[in-house]
Amino acid sequence: MRARALWMAGVLGTALLTLTGCRSDMWVQQKVEAQDNSEFYALADPVKGFDGKIYGDGSRPMPPNTIARGRLIDPTDPFVTGKDAQGNLLTKLPPQVKLTREFLNKGQEKYNVFCAQCHGRAGDGMGMIALRGQWPRPVPSLVREQLLTQPIGYFFTSGKYGFGIMYGYGTRMTDEELWAVAAYVRVLQLSQNAPLKDLAPEDIDKLAQAQQARRRSQPNTIAQEN
Ligand code: HEC
Repeated sequence: MRARALWMAGVLGTALLTLTGCRSDMWVQQKVEAQDNSEFYALADPVKGFDGKIYGDGSRPMPPNTIARGRLIDPTDPFVTGKDAQGNLLTKLPPQVKLTREFLNKGQEKYNVFCAQCHGRAGDGMGMIALRGQWPRPVPSLVREQLLTQPIGYFFTSGKYGFGIMYGYGTRMTDEELWAVAAYVRVLQLSQNAPLKDLAPEDIDKLAQAQQARRRSQPNTIAQEN
């Protein structure tokens, strides 16, 4: 019995010693916290604090021109510029992006956030800001005939770098998102300029019904107005 108790006490004692031994040193030792002042770095890199004292900045400044891992871009890549090596606007999506439904959904989401307030959800230039604001030049429709033949790079570069009095969105969206928006502008264009022969028979029926309904309702509205 006695031997067993002694043995237990020994085990407990060792455990206690080991555990406490590990902890305290690491916990209280000097260390630099993010955004902390530092006496150590003050020697090499002094900063004057608001209180007039000289401190060092515990968070090390990044060396100039640092690029995060995986963020190195080739500034001449058509994916980045929207133009090919000859400086012509791209007529197709660059190979980095794939035309899928998700890609177009992303474009729709970003368009509705960043462009629709001016250019309108349907791209017709009738966004709330266009209707209410005072513009030196009106907000253009993105679905008008003249723009149907513009290469897709036109919509990418206009979105990224801006156009005339419209500022660019390159700092607010990634290049991939800007391509998605450009692709979605094409969707809007098609939605309002689809050739009749490309429509499914049921859609042609719907169109014909809508036209009939309009014709039927028009005499009434004229009668009411009189
Ligand atoms: C704050 C309002 C506003 C927002 C938001 C806006 N635009 Fe514009 N956009 C304009 C105006 C105004 C013009 C015409 C500028 C001019 O003629 O100087 C224009 C012109 C354009 C043109 C050229 C159209 C043409 O007639 O050739 C394109 C393309 C375009 N915008 C795309 C976009 C895209 C894509 C977005 C979203 C990323 C966007 N715009 C967001 C106001 C806006």
